[in-house]
Amino acid sequence: MNPKIIDWAGQVVWVVGASSGIGRALAEALSLRGARVIASARRSEPLLSLQPACVRCLTVDVSQASDLQAAIKVLEQEHLLPDVVFWVAGVYHPMACEALELDAVRETFEVNTLAAYAGLKQMLQAWERLPGRPRHWSWVSSVAGYRGLPRAAAYGASKAALTYLAEVSYLELQDKAIAVSVVQPGFVQTRLTAKNDFTMPAIITPEAAAAATLKGLAKGQFEIHYPKRFTLLLKLLRLLPYGLYFRLIRSTLPNHSSQRNS
Ligand SMILES: NC(=O)c1ccc[n+]([C@@H]2O[C@H](COP(=O)([O-])OP(=O)(O)OC[C@H]3O[C@@H](n4cnc5c(N)ncnc54)[C@H](OP(=O)(O)O)[C@@H]3O)[C@@H](O)[C@H]2O)c1
Repeated sequence: MNPKIIDWAGQVVWVVGASSGIGRALAEALSLRGARVIASARRSEPLLSLQPACVRCLTVDVSQASDLQAAIKVLEQEHLLPDVVFWVAGVYHPMACEALELDAVRETFEVNTLAAYAGLKQMLQAWERLPGRPRHWSWVSSVAGYRGLPRAAAYGASKAALTYLAEVSYLELQDKAIAVSVVQPGFVQTRLTAKNDFTMPAIITPEAAAAATLKGLAKGQFEIHYPKRFTLLLKLLRLLPYGLYFRLIRSTLPNHSSQRNS
Protein backbone atom coordinates (compact mmCIF):
# COMPACT_ATOMS: atom_id res chain seq x y z
CA MET A 1 0.00 0.00 0.00
CA ASN A 2 3.05 2.25 0.40
CA PRO A 3 6.52 2.37 -1.15
CA LYS A 4 8.63 -0.04 0.93
CA ILE A 5 11.26 1.56 3.13
CA ILE A 6 14.11 -0.93 3.31
CA ASP A 7 17.19 1.25 3.10
CA TRP A 8 17.29 3.96 5.77
CA ALA A 9 20.84 5.11 5.04
CA GLY A 10 20.97 8.88 4.65
CA GLN A 11 17.22 9.36 5.14
CA VAL A 12 16.36 12.32 7.32
CA VAL A 13 13.85 11.12 9.91
CA TRP A 14 12.06 13.24 12.52
CA VAL A 15 10.91 11.29 15.55
CA VAL A 16 8.43 13.45 17.45
CA GLY A 17 8.20 11.94 20.94
CA ALA A 18 11.70 10.49 21.07
CA SER A 19 12.66 11.09 24.70
CA SER A 20 11.42 7.71 25.98
CA GLY A 21 9.61 4.48 25.17
CA ILE A 22 8.71 3.54 21.62
CA GLY A 23 9.94 6.81 20.09
CA ARG A 24 13.33 6.53 21.75
CA ALA A 25 13.73 2.91 20.64
CA LEU A 26 12.74 3.94 17.11
CA ALA A 27 15.30 6.74 17.07
CA GLU A 28 18.02 4.33 18.18
CA ALA A 29 17.02 1.61 15.68
CA LEU A 30 16.85 4.12 12.82
CA SER A 31 20.24 5.54 13.67
CA LEU A 32 21.74 2.03 13.65
CA ARG A 33 20.29 1.62 10.15
CA GLY A 34 22.07 4.78 8.97
CA ALA A 35 19.21 7.29 9.15
CA ARG A 36 19.90 10.91 10.14
CA VAL A 37 17.58 11.18 13.11
CA ILE A 38 16.12 14.38 14.50
CA ALA A 39 14.74 13.75 17.98
CA SER A 40 12.01 15.85 19.58
CA ALA A 41 10.01 15.91 22.80
CA ARG A 42 9.51 18.30 25.73
CA ARG A 43 12.29 16.98 28.00
CA SER A 44 15.71 18.03 26.74
CA GLU A 45 17.88 15.87 29.01
CA PRO A 46 16.72 12.48 27.75
CA LEU A 47 16.89 13.83 24.20
CA LEU A 48 20.50 14.92 24.65
CA SER A 49 21.35 11.51 26.09
CA LEU A 50 20.29 10.02 22.75
CA GLN A 51 23.34 11.53 21.08
CA PRO A 52 25.18 10.42 18.97
CA ALA A 53 22.13 8.46 17.78
CA CYS A 54 20.53 11.71 16.60
CA VAL A 55 22.00 14.44 14.42
CA ARG A 56 19.77 17.09 16.01
CA CYS A 57 17.68 17.37 19.17
CA LEU A 58 14.84 19.86 19.15
CA THR A 59 12.81 20.51 22.27
CA VAL A 60 9.16 20.78 21.27
CA ASP A 61 5.85 20.75 23.09
CA VAL A 62 3.56 19.55 20.31
CA SER A 63 0.53 21.09 21.97
CA GLN A 64 2.09 24.53 21.33
CA ALA A 65 1.67 25.50 17.67
CA SER A 66 4.46 28.06 18.05
CA ASP A 67 6.90 25.33 19.18
CA LEU A 68 6.08 23.25 16.11
CA GLN A 69 6.44 26.24 13.83
CA ALA A 70 9.82 27.17 15.34
CA ALA A 71 11.10 23.59 15.09
CA ILE A 72 10.14 23.26 11.44
CA LYS A 73 11.77 26.62 10.70
CA VAL A 74 15.03 25.36 12.25
CA LEU A 75 14.83 22.16 10.20
CA GLU A 76 14.38 24.17 7.01
CA GLN A 77 17.23 26.53 7.87
CA GLU A 78 19.55 23.63 8.66
CA HIS A 79 18.55 21.68 5.51
CA LEU A 80 17.14 18.94 7.69
CA LEU A 81 13.58 18.87 6.43
CA PRO A 82 12.62 15.24 7.06
CA ASP A 83 11.92 12.58 4.44
CA VAL A 84 10.05 10.61 7.09
CA VAL A 85 8.14 11.78 10.17
CA PHE A 86 7.23 9.44 13.04
CA TRP A 87 4.49 11.15 15.05
CA VAL A 88 4.86 9.26 18.33
CA ALA A 89 4.08 11.88 21.01
CA GLY A 90 1.24 10.83 23.24
CA VAL A 91 -0.10 10.91 26.80
CA TYR A 92 -2.28 8.45 28.66
CA HIS A 93 -4.63 9.19 31.54
CA PRO A 94 -6.72 6.16 32.42
CA MET A 95 -9.97 7.16 34.13
CA ALA A 96 -13.43 5.84 34.76
CA CYS A 97 -16.50 7.72 33.56
CA GLU A 98 -17.59 8.24 37.17
CA ALA A 99 -14.28 9.99 37.90
CA LEU A 100 -13.60 12.07 34.81
CA GLU A 101 -10.80 14.60 35.23
CA LEU A 102 -11.51 17.26 32.65
CA ASP A 103 -8.00 18.73 32.65
CA ALA A 104 -6.60 15.30 31.85
CA VAL A 105 -9.23 14.78 29.14
CA ARG A 106 -8.28 18.13 27.62
CA GLU A 107 -4.56 17.34 27.69
CA THR A 108 -5.19 13.95 26.11
CA PHE A 109 -6.99 15.46 23.14
CA GLU A 110 -4.58 18.38 22.86
CA VAL A 111 -1.49 16.16 22.68
CA ASN A 112 -2.81 12.97 21.08
CA THR A 113 -5.19 14.49 18.57
CA LEU A 114 -5.21 18.26 18.06
CA ALA A 115 -1.42 18.55 17.96
CA ALA A 116 -1.37 15.91 15.22
CA TYR A 117 -3.44 18.17 12.97
CA ALA A 118 -1.15 21.12 13.71
CA GLY A 119 1.99 19.08 13.06
CA LEU A 120 0.65 17.69 9.79
CA LYS A 121 -0.53 21.08 8.57
CA GLN A 122 2.80 22.75 9.21
CA MET A 123 4.92 19.95 7.78
CA LEU A 124 2.81 19.76 4.62
CA GLN A 125 3.38 23.47 4.11
CA ALA A 126 7.14 23.00 4.59
CA TRP A 127 7.24 20.01 2.23
CA GLU A 128 5.35 22.08 -0.33
CA ARG A 129 8.14 24.65 -0.18
CA LEU A 130 10.70 21.94 -1.04
CA PRO A 131 8.95 19.61 -3.48
CA GLY A 132 10.41 16.77 -5.51
CA ARG A 133 11.15 14.11 -2.89
CA PRO A 134 8.99 11.17 -1.83
CA ARG A 135 7.93 11.52 1.80
CA HIS A 136 6.38 9.35 4.47
CA TRP A 137 4.35 10.25 7.58
CA SER A 138 3.89 7.53 10.16
CA TRP A 139 1.31 8.04 12.93
CA VAL A 140 1.69 6.08 16.15
CA SER A 141 -1.89 5.49 17.25
CA SER A 142 -3.19 2.62 19.40
CA VAL A 143 -5.41 -0.45 19.33
CA ALA A 144 -7.21 1.29 22.21
CA GLY A 145 -8.96 3.27 19.48
CA TYR A 146 -10.47 0.19 17.83
CA ARG A 147 -13.54 0.05 20.11
CA GLY A 148 -14.76 1.32 23.47
CA LEU A 149 -12.69 -0.01 26.38
CA PRO A 150 -13.13 0.54 30.12
CA ARG A 151 -11.16 3.45 31.61
CA ALA A 152 -10.12 4.61 28.12
CA ALA A 153 -12.84 7.22 27.53
CA ALA A 154 -10.29 9.94 26.79
CA TYR A 155 -7.26 8.00 25.55
CA GLY A 156 -9.17 5.55 23.33
CA ALA A 157 -11.28 8.29 21.78
CA SER A 158 -8.22 10.46 21.11
CA LYS A 159 -6.54 7.53 19.35
CA ALA A 160 -9.68 6.59 17.39
CA ALA A 161 -9.66 10.14 16.04
CA LEU A 162 -5.95 9.88 15.25
CA THR A 163 -6.48 6.66 13.31
CA TYR A 164 -9.28 8.37 11.39
CA LEU A 165 -6.89 11.20 10.53
CA ALA A 166 -4.32 8.61 9.44
CA GLU A 167 -6.84 7.01 7.06
CA VAL A 168 -7.90 10.35 5.57
CA SER A 169 -4.32 11.56 5.19
CA TYR A 170 -3.42 8.27 3.46
CA LEU A 171 -6.24 8.75 0.97
CA GLU A 172 -5.55 12.39 0.29
CA LEU A 173 -1.76 12.57 0.23
CA GLN A 174 -1.01 9.62 -2.03
CA ASP A 175 -1.22 11.80 -5.15
CA LYS A 176 1.38 14.16 -3.67
CA ALA A 177 3.94 11.34 -3.25
CA ILE A 178 3.45 11.44 0.51
CA ALA A 179 2.96 7.96 1.91
CA VAL A 180 1.11 7.55 5.21
CA SER A 181 1.10 4.67 7.67
CA VAL A 182 -0.49 4.08 11.05
CA VAL A 183 1.16 2.08 13.82
CA GLN A 184 -1.20 0.34 16.25
CA PRO A 185 0.76 -1.12 19.15
CA GLY A 186 -0.74 -3.41 21.73
CA PHE A 187 0.87 -3.21 25.18
CA VAL A 188 4.47 -1.97 25.22
CA GLN A 189 6.52 -1.72 28.40
CA THR A 190 7.05 2.04 28.81
CA ARG A 191 6.42 4.74 31.41
CA LEU A 192 3.01 5.17 29.77
CA THR A 193 1.84 1.64 30.60
CA ALA A 194 3.53 1.78 34.01
CA LYS A 195 0.29 3.53 35.02
CA ASN A 196 -1.70 0.33 34.47
CA ASP A 197 -2.49 -1.70 37.56
CA PHE A 198 -3.57 -4.84 35.69
CA THR A 199 -1.71 -7.62 33.91
CA MET A 200 -1.11 -6.54 30.35
CA PRO A 201 -1.40 -9.43 27.93
CA ALA A 202 1.35 -10.01 25.35
CA ILE A 203 3.35 -6.98 26.51
CA ILE A 204 6.53 -6.34 24.50
CA THR A 205 9.61 -4.15 24.88
CA PRO A 206 10.00 -0.78 23.15
CA GLU A 207 12.86 -2.30 21.13
CA ALA A 208 10.55 -5.05 19.85
CA ALA A 209 7.93 -2.40 19.03
CA ALA A 210 10.49 -0.38 17.07
CA ALA A 211 11.64 -3.47 15.17
CA ALA A 212 8.03 -4.43 14.32
CA THR A 213 7.35 -0.87 13.13
CA LEU A 214 10.34 -0.87 10.79
CA LYS A 215 9.40 -4.35 9.56
CA GLY A 216 5.94 -3.07 8.63
CA LEU A 217 7.44 -0.12 6.77
CA ALA A 218 9.79 -2.47 4.91
CA LYS A 219 6.68 -4.36 3.73
CA GLY A 220 4.96 -1.14 2.65
CA GLN A 221 2.04 -1.68 5.03
CA PHE A 222 -0.47 1.07 5.80
CA GLU A 223 -1.50 -0.41 9.14
CA ILE A 224 1.31 -1.84 11.24
CA HIS A 225 -0.09 -3.62 14.27
CA TYR A 226 1.70 -5.74 16.85
CA PRO A 227 2.12 -8.07 18.61
CA LYS A 228 -0.14 -10.07 16.31
CA ARG A 229 -1.13 -12.58 19.02
CA PHE A 230 -2.89 -9.70 20.77
CA THR A 231 -3.88 -7.32 17.97
CA LEU A 232 -5.52 -10.02 15.81
CA LEU A 233 -7.75 -10.88 18.76
CA LEU A 234 -8.76 -7.22 19.08
CA LYS A 235 -9.47 -7.09 15.36
CA LEU A 236 -11.77 -10.07 15.80
CA LEU A 237 -13.53 -8.35 18.72
CA ARG A 238 -14.09 -5.37 16.45
CA LEU A 239 -16.26 -7.52 14.20
CA LEU A 240 -18.63 -8.65 16.96
CA PRO A 241 -22.12 -7.19 17.43
CA TYR A 242 -22.38 -4.80 20.39
CA GLY A 243 -24.22 -7.26 22.68
CA LEU A 244 -21.55 -9.91 22.42
CA TYR A 245 -18.69 -7.41 22.48
CA PHE A 246 -19.92 -5.69 25.66
CA ARG A 247 -20.53 -9.04 27.39
CA LEU A 248 -17.03 -10.27 26.57
CA ILE A 249 -15.31 -7.05 27.68
CA ARG A 250 -17.33 -6.91 30.91
CA SER A 251 -16.34 -10.49 31.67
CA THR A 252 -12.68 -9.42 31.76
CA LEU A 253 -13.30 -6.72 34.40
CA PRO A 254 -12.32 -7.33 38.01
CA ASN A 255 -15.34 -7.92 40.29
CA HIS A 256 -17.43 -8.66 37.23
CA SER A 257 -19.65 -11.30 38.88
CA SER A 258 -19.97 -9.31 42.14
CA GLN A 259 -21.03 -6.21 40.15
CA ARG A 260 -23.67 -8.27 38.37
CA ASN A 261 -24.94 -9.82 41.59
CA SER A 262 -25.00 -6.62 43.59
N1 LIG B 1 3.09 1.77 25.59
C1 LIG B 1 2.04 1.23 25.01
O1 LIG B 1 1.58 0.14 25.40
C2 LIG B 1 1.39 1.91 23.85
C3 LIG B 1 0.38 1.22 23.18
C4 LIG B 1 -0.25 1.83 22.11
C5 LIG B 1 0.14 3.07 21.69
N2 LIG B 1 1.13 3.74 22.36
C6 LIG B 1 1.49 5.07 21.88
O2 LIG B 1 2.87 5.11 21.63
C7 LIG B 1 3.34 6.45 21.76
C8 LIG B 1 4.58 6.44 22.64
O3 LIG B 1 4.22 6.07 23.94
P1 LIG B 1 5.18 5.26 24.91
O4 LIG B 1 4.43 4.09 25.37
O5 LIG B 1 6.50 5.08 24.28
O6 LIG B 1 5.22 6.25 26.16
P2 LIG B 1 6.31 7.30 26.67
O7 LIG B 1 7.56 6.62 27.01
O8 LIG B 1 5.61 8.08 27.71
O9 LIG B 1 6.56 8.21 25.38
C9 LIG B 1 5.74 9.27 25.04
C10 LIG B 1 6.58 10.26 24.24
O10 LIG B 1 5.74 11.34 23.85
C11 LIG B 1 6.39 12.56 24.25
N3 LIG B 1 5.39 13.59 24.52
C12 LIG B 1 4.34 13.53 25.39
N4 LIG B 1 3.70 14.71 25.39
C13 LIG B 1 4.37 15.52 24.53
C14 LIG B 1 4.21 16.86 24.12
N5 LIG B 1 3.21 17.64 24.60
N6 LIG B 1 5.08 17.36 23.22
C15 LIG B 1 6.09 16.61 22.75
N7 LIG B 1 6.30 15.34 23.09
C16 LIG B 1 5.45 14.81 23.97
C17 LIG B 1 7.17 12.17 25.49
O11 LIG B 1 8.23 13.08 25.74
P3 LIG B 1 8.24 14.26 26.81
O12 LIG B 1 7.48 13.80 28.02
O13 LIG B 1 9.70 14.48 27.04
O14 LIG B 1 7.61 15.42 26.12
C18 LIG B 1 7.72 10.82 25.07
O15 LIG B 1 8.86 10.98 24.29
C19 LIG B 1 2.17 7.25 22.35
O16 LIG B 1 1.52 7.97 21.33
C20 LIG B 1 1.26 6.17 22.90
O17 LIG B 1 -0.08 6.59 22.94
C21 LIG B 1 1.76 3.18 23.43
